[in-house]
Amino acid sequence: MGKAYLFLSGKGGTGKTTVAASIGLKLARDGRRTVLVDADVGLRCADILLNMENDIVYDASDVLEDRSVVEEALTACPAENNLYLLSAPQMMNPSDVDKKAMNGVIRDLKTRFDYVLIDCPAGIGRGLRNVWSEADEAVIVSTPDDASLRDAERLSKLLFDKKQLRAQLLLNRTDRFLILFREERRPADIAAALDLPLLAAIPDSNDVYRALLAHKTALECDSRRVRRAIRLAADRLSGADIPLPKYCRPR
Ligand SMILES: Nc1ncnc2c1ncn2[C@@H]1O[C@H](COP(=O)(O)OP(=O)(O)O)[C@@H](O)[C@H]1O
Ligand SMILES: [Mg+2]
Repeated sequence: MGKAYLFLSGKGGTGKTTVAASIGLKLARDGRRTVLVDADVGLRCADILLNMENDIVYDASDVLEDRSVVEEALTACPAENNLYLLSAPQMMNPSDVDKKAMNGVIRDLKTRFDYVLIDCPAGIGRGLRNVWSEADEAVIVSTPDDASLRDAERLSKLLFDKKQLRAQLLLNRTDRFLILFREERRPADIAAALDLPLLAAIPDSNDVYRALLAHKTALECDSRRVRRAIRLAADRLSGADIPLPKYCRPR
C-alpha cells in the first residue's frame, strides 16, 4: 500500500506544482511507481510541466462522474516509465467535486502506486478539503518571506487540528547570498520558528522558470544546485536520512 502526500501552501505561487512534479519525476526515475494527482481543479497545470498537455484524454471528473475508470484516466508520462498523471478537470469548480468519491479515487491510487503526490490548490478552501482525508503526509511549500510563512503557519495548524497531520516544511526559492548577508533567515531557523520539521530547501533560480517555459520540471533545469536540491528533497521524502547542506542548518 502506497502513501499519499499533500503538496500545499497557504499563499499562491510558492512552487507547489514545480516541486511536486519534480519530486515525482525523481521518485519515478528511482523505480518507484508514482502518480501525480493534479488537484488544482479549474486551474490545472501539472500536465504542462510534464510536457503531457497533448496526451490527456480523461481527467478526474470523468472518473468521478462514471465516464471512465481510474485506469483510463491515468495518463502515462511518455518520458518516464513509472510516472503517471491524473489530471484535474478544467471545467469544474472545487465545490462541484464529490468529496467522498474523490477520496475513494485517492484510496484506490494508494493500492496501485508507491507514491501518490497530490498537487493542491493554494489556501484552505474546498479544493484542499476535497482531497485531504486520505493523505498520510503533508508538505507545506513556502517561500522564505514572512507573508508566505505566516500563511504556512496557519495552514500547518489547521492540518494538525482538523486531520492530525503533522506537515513538513519545504522552503522554495531560497537565496544563499541573501542568507550569507543575513537578509534572509536560514532554512533551519525558519522551520524552528514555525515548529515544523524541515524537509528541504530549493534555491531560487531563473533556470526553474526557463525550464517551465520549455515544459520541463525543475529536475531537468540547467541549475545543478536546483537539481541536487530536488533529488535530496525526494530522497528525504522517501525516508533517507541525508543531512541538508550547510547553509540550511542553524547558525
Ligand atoms: N525555485 C524556483 N526558482 C525560481 N522560480 C521558481 C522556483 N520554483 C517555482 N518557480 C516559479 O514560480 C512560479 C510559480 O510556480 P508554481 O509551481 O506554478 O507554483 P504554485 O503551484 O504554488 O502556484 C512559476 O513561474 C515557477 O517557474
Ligand atoms: Mg500549482
